[in-house]
Amino acid sequence: LKAKMIVDKDFRISEIDERIYGSFIEHLGRAVYGGLYEPDHPEADENGFRKDVIELVKQLDVPIVRYPGGNMVSGYNWEDGVGPREQRPRRLELAWRTIETNELGTNEFADWAKLVNSEVMMAVNLGTRGIDAARNLIEYCNHPGGTYYSDLRRKHGYEKPHNIKTWCLGNEMDGPWQIGHKTAEEYGRLALETAKAMKLVDNSIELVACGSSNTGMPTFPQYEATTLEHAYEAVDYISLHQYYGNKSNDPANYLAKTLDMEHFIKTIISTCDYVKAKKRSRKTINLSFDEWNVWYHSHDQDKQIEPWSIAPPQLEDVYNFEDALLVGSMLMTFLRHSDRVKIACMAQLINVIAPIMTETGGRAWKQTIFYPYAHVSAYGRGVALQPVVSSPKYDSKDFTDVPYLDTAAVYNEEKQEVTVFALNRHLQESLELHCDVRSFEDYQIVDHIVMEHDDLKAVNTADSQAVQPHHNGVSVLDDGIVEAKLPKASWNVIRLR
Ligand code: AHR
Repeated sequence: LKAKMIVDKDFRISEIDERIYGSFIEHLGRAVYGGLYEPDHPEADENGFRKDVIELVKQLDVPIVRYPGGNMVSGYNWEDGVGPREQRPRRLELAWRTIETNELGTNEFADWAKLVNSEVMMAVNLGTRGIDAARNLIEYCNHPGGTYYSDLRRKHGYEKPHNIKTWCLGNEMDGPWQIGHKTAEEYGRLALETAKAMKLVDNSIELVACGSSNTGMPTFPQYEATTLEHAYEAVDYISLHQYYGNKSNDPANYLAKTLDMEHFIKTIISTCDYVKAKKRSRKTINLSFDEWNVWYHSHDQDKQIEPWSIAPPQLEDVYNFEDALLVGSMLMTFLRHSDRVKIACMAQLINVIAPIMTETGGRAWKQTIFYPYAHVSAYGRGVALQPVVSSPKYDSKDFTDVPYLDTAAVYNEEKQEVTVFALNRHLQESLELHCDVRSFEDYQIVDHIVMEHDDLKAVNTADSQAVQPHHNGVSVLDDGIVEAKLPKASWNVIRLR
């Protein structure tokens, strides 16, 4: 099996916004309690943050973390999570039917985000609440002082404002499961009026309006169109969410699911630009893909969870090798659309559908999906290049003309490095890749990282890292041509300098 591609430094898609390597922490399951925060843990620092977890998050180099939800935000009173801990109320958390102790809230999360070198992407509650709570929260977070909410923050021990730049106007408001679910007309109006008030408090912020919860929603993509018809001039991004799974155990079809993601992104770009044309606007709305991942392994076990427990193990998907391949493919999809996708958040970061797992009281480790995320975050900074690709193709249950070679290329001008990311979707055969890199004169191959495994279902646990990359990829560069061998069902990172 053979594929060809050209990577040329002049075929530029866009400067990559590093926020596409964002992630997400929701007050859900053990993401916060038993995940990033566990005061009794031997690795906890003086604020109760687990240092072993911080170390793993830092390895992913996550520039922005969405918080505090998710479905949870649609019933959240942010005031419950600030001020003296002993006075914070315990609440019924309706989205996931647990008890929220509010031991950790906005200020502590902002502290934690600093420790992992991340910005906070804050979501406001547009389910049970609205304009008033949102404008108060932004005053609390971003106003320097001398007013009720900014002085309340100072009284709570935070003299300096958090200066949170990126805000989400609610979460998945198109979904009937959402607390305070809204039609597009209802949501569009509320998003506009909330956006106006928030920008009056701080006009340096950027706002993300909700779009469809996935491509299967009956209101996709009209929800986006109607929302933007109302809120176009007041918002900056539209949100996309998508999770995939392989319930039917059809790996060839599973690995092709990024074709659906591609279709999702293209449709939303068209929808934004249609509204732009209708409004004769000069402004362009960009995309915030602020929830994406594999999510299906834990669905059945989550049905067994007793309601009203504190931080139960919810959404604890154990990822296998094929999931890591799809995650790599999803990341490459963002790179190829980096002219419009400016933010993306892997959902989520710790324990809950996450690359990082912990035992409460015990160890922390890397799931399989940790690796492609770490690779693209590390080597996917700079300018995304448009590879010209010629690859053999296959048909699967839901998709036709699926290229065996899935790829993206990034040029880091500062470091004088170019990286080719490549997935071989063929499950039985290796792919001989012939890659023309003649525009990069005098470059050499410095690394060829490979993730491969004979068992697509192999997983990592606290005891074993059965699935992890090696650096023994087979590739040579001669006369401006890279000849690389991409093993069957493999994730590859070929770095040139
Ligand atoms: O990430 C898990 C959940 O998925 C989020 O709370 C919600 O926004 C989405 O449906």
